[in-house]
Amino acid sequence: MNSERKIKEPNGRLGILTPGMGAVSTTFMAGVIAANKDLGRPIGSISQMGKIRLGKRTENNNPNVKDFIPLAPMENMVFGGWDIYNDNVYESAMNAGVLEKDLLNGIKDELTEIKPMPAVFDHNFIKNIDGENVKKEKNKMDYAKALMADISNFKEKNKCDRLVIIWCASTEVYTQITDVHLSIEKFEKALEDNHPAIAPSMIYAYAAIKSGVPFANGAPNLTVDTPALIELANKLNVPIAGKDFKTGQTLMKTILGPGLKTRLLGIDGWFSTNILGNRDGEVLDDVDSFKTKEVSKLSVLDSVLEPDKYPELYKDMYHKVRINYYPPKGDDKESWDNIDIFGWLGYKMQIKVNFLCKDSILAAPVVLDLAIFMDLAQRAGMKGIQEWLSFYFKSPQTKEGLQPIHDIFLQKIKFENTLRHLMGETLINYLGLDYYEEG
Ligand SMILES: NC(=O)c1ccc[n+]([C@@H]2O[C@H](COP(=O)([O-])OP(=O)(O)OC[C@H]3O[C@@H](n4cnc5c(N)ncnc54)[C@H](O)[C@@H]3O)[C@@H](O)[C@H]2O)c1
Repeated sequence: MNSERKIKEPNGRLGILTPGMGAVSTTFMAGVIAANKDLGRPIGSISQMGKIRLGKRTENNNPNVKDFIPLAPMENMVFGGWDIYNDNVYESAMNAGVLEKDLLNGIKDELTEIKPMPAVFDHNFIKNIDGENVKKEKNKMDYAKALMADISNFKEKNKCDRLVIIWCASTEVYTQITDVHLSIEKFEKALEDNHPAIAPSMIYAYAAIKSGVPFANGAPNLTVDTPALIELANKLNVPIAGKDFKTGQTLMKTILGPGLKTRLLGIDGWFSTNILGNRDGEVLDDVDSFKTKEVSKLSVLDSVLEPDKYPELYKDMYHKVRINYYPPKGDDKESWDNIDIFGWLGYKMQIKVNFLCKDSILAAPVVLDLAIFMDLAQRAGMKGIQEWLSFYFKSPQTKEGLQPIHDIFLQKIKFENTLRHLMGETLINYLGLDYYEEG
């Protein structure tokens, strides 16, 4: 069937490792284990519940995605990871308070077995938290080697056929690309020199790529989005993707924004505010970590609305994003959006959105799908940046010089066409004139 590429079969076990085993990671792991025991449904996951149309609309052929293309089954997954806290996944999930205690107690044995490996941590990059479970090495290259040893030990001990790593750790402070990130040669020297511009997330990403393990970044920190690590991934044929899981308020923005733009309604301002009380919120209470998140969240609307092409409608739009740490909310984030729009003859209107969401409940299926599709990418021989997975990210990583696509519906078309392409199926462009012109 697949005329374009030979896709290796997903035989054996897929190990999924997450640097960071907090709310998102544990909600994902516990969710997969619960779903495998029929204690819940993997709602929100395209790999588990999605369908894909093949051929013409008249054919009515819409198989399940997982029956169409060979994907690693949820039953063959094993989990692991790293965290600065010693809590096993049961304890960490209890502490995160996302999933109900009864559910967690029903899978306590499986969750207790998953224990975090000691983390690579640097206070200069994450300010508001501190933990005991950290590695102590001489320099950053030694940290990378220690992570590579963890990766290969995990694979062997758990008899995995393949691994995937998804960054689910806290958001690091805002950093920009500097000289040491420009080539792999400079990057490796900087690791040896313990250079301050190399963040822990980059060390994990380097270790993953060197180990031949696909790496996706769920937080907005730079991480794999540097010329050096892109070069390494291309050289070693490893898929990479990022950054920042698309959930919550930004998910709503990428649903509403394209809708308003499609009808050419103008926007004067978009004010977004959030309150949340989980550990992610605590880390984002630090102004430098917030800056990383802010940049990721702000980039979305510009790309969706294209103010340069539509200056009359969007050029003067005032866009503000705020996140406030408010402990009583726990993982139940509340966000408010006030959107000032204008229509025919410039008449003004307003839209208010009040989203009471559970961030980790929205993120868990994204982690699952990313793990599954990054593994697919590797089995299909795809390497480097996986832009077709933009659908899952707030700030999609693209090749230098390519504008990212933020419109979630365009992202979905790109995603589905990539699956069709991999399987040698006809791509769908939605023209549809042939239905009317034939005969
Ligand atoms: N929840 C969402 O919907 C969502 C959406 C987009 C992005 N994210 C990002 O995903 C990440 C995880 O979110 P969360 O709600 O699970 O946060 P969390 O605070 O519950 O978990 C993060 C964990 O990472 C650990 N950690 C920090 N630095 C580490 C390091 N160097 N190595 C290993 N572990 C480390 C922390 O100890 C913590 O347990 C955050 O960066 C967040 O911004 C979350």
